[in-house]
Amino acid sequence: MIQTSTFVNLRFACICGPSTPQPLNPETAHPLNRPTAQPLNRPTAPPLYPENALVLAPLCGYTDYPFRQSCRRYGCRYAFTPLVEAGSLAYANPTGEALLYRGPDEEWLGVQLLGNRPELIEAAVRRLNDHSFELLDFNLGCPVPKVTKRGAGVALAHELELAVGCVEILVRHSRFPVTTKTRVLDAVDPAPTVRLAQALEAAGVQALTLHGRTWRQIYSGPVHSHVVRAVRESVRIPVIANGGVFDAAGAEMLRAATGCSRLMIARGAIGNPWIFRETVAGAAPAPPVTQAELTGELETHVLAMVAHHGEGYGLRLARKIILGYLKGRGFRHSLKDAAAHLADLAEFYRFMEQLRIEPGLCLQRRGPPPEM
Ligand SMILES: Cc1cc2nc3c(=O)[nH]c(=O)nc-3n(C[C@H](O)[C@H](O)[C@H](O)COP(=O)(O)O)c2cc1C
Repeated sequence: MIQTSTFVNLRFACICGPSTPQPLNPETAHPLNRPTAQPLNRPTAPPLYPENALVLAPLCGYTDYPFRQSCRRYGCRYAFTPLVEAGSLAYANPTGEALLYRGPDEEWLGVQLLGNRPELIEAAVRRLNDHSFELLDFNLGCPVPKVTKRGAGVALAHELELAVGCVEILVRHSRFPVTTKTRVLDAVDPAPTVRLAQALEAAGVQALTLHGRTWRQIYSGPVHSHVVRAVRESVRIPVIANGGVFDAAGAEMLRAATGCSRLMIARGAIGNPWIFRETVAGAAPAPPVTQAELTGELETHVLAMVAHHGEGYGLRLARKIILGYLKGRGFRHSLKDAAAHLADLAEFYRFMEQLRIEPGLCLQRRGPPPEM
């Protein structure tokens, strides 16, 4: 059992700085999280994410292991599981457990938890402690009605006291550093979002991802960069800006408008893992994706899904992934129709043969994939 004073020092140390998050219990920690020879209570420590970090967002229904592997091939290091419901972990639901899978080659992986009932959150975090993650992120931003109706996600961000109470439970019980992902509470006035961020920081959160859109906006419309900037200037923990990064120009705009060097990429990575090499801060413009790269990556990604989830379920899940690769790149509708109905691997291989010989593609995608 860790002493309170050590615990406070650890939290303080991580806010001010170590690059490797320090686990609370070195005996049980995953090797990636084991302390180095340095003392745990050193006064300064690098933040969880270095300057200019590009983080793959948690994306429900997308960011499984094959998706993350695909992004990692193009330079993505920081990635998350999709959100996992506290209740599903607390009751040992196999669907929730499956979301926690970490590939043997994944050097850095965060887990994201959703919930608003303290007793379930505490039970869930105890289960998470049996796994290995670089950090535990708490979802305070999901706008989906079935989540907000029961007071979780962004609805919880609007209930400051309960949100802070939930975070305190996580900080107390998690052996991983705790972070949160939320969104702008008011499009015009930064004060409510600043209040929330400062309260989360005081509760022990070690980094904050801020999506610059409000609850009402869901995922569309302008990103309120001035609010993100005000939050960044009001806390000492790293703030990761999120919202509307679909290419290098978008990344530069978000960095400049918010003052945040760290960015989280979400829909921009769907069907476009190359975004991680294109949006590196200060990098020379990346070469456009070639047709061979597009078809090769798509095939590798889908076959990895089949290996991970099985042929039937894997291909069903893969349909929207394939559409993600095709959308906005000028492919014929009939090809998209074929992708939407793929039933087995034989059909998939026939589809790939056709895709490889498609002429005259516009491979440079700009903006979000349509219908997202
Ligand atoms: C299909 C989909 C699934 C998402 N799943 C999650 C999730 O599990 N956890 C989370 O914090 N945000 C989730 N988000 C929100 C994204 O992480 C991100 O905040 C949002 O899409 C804004 O970023 P963007 O404009 O770069 O896409 C999801 C968004 C979409 C479109």
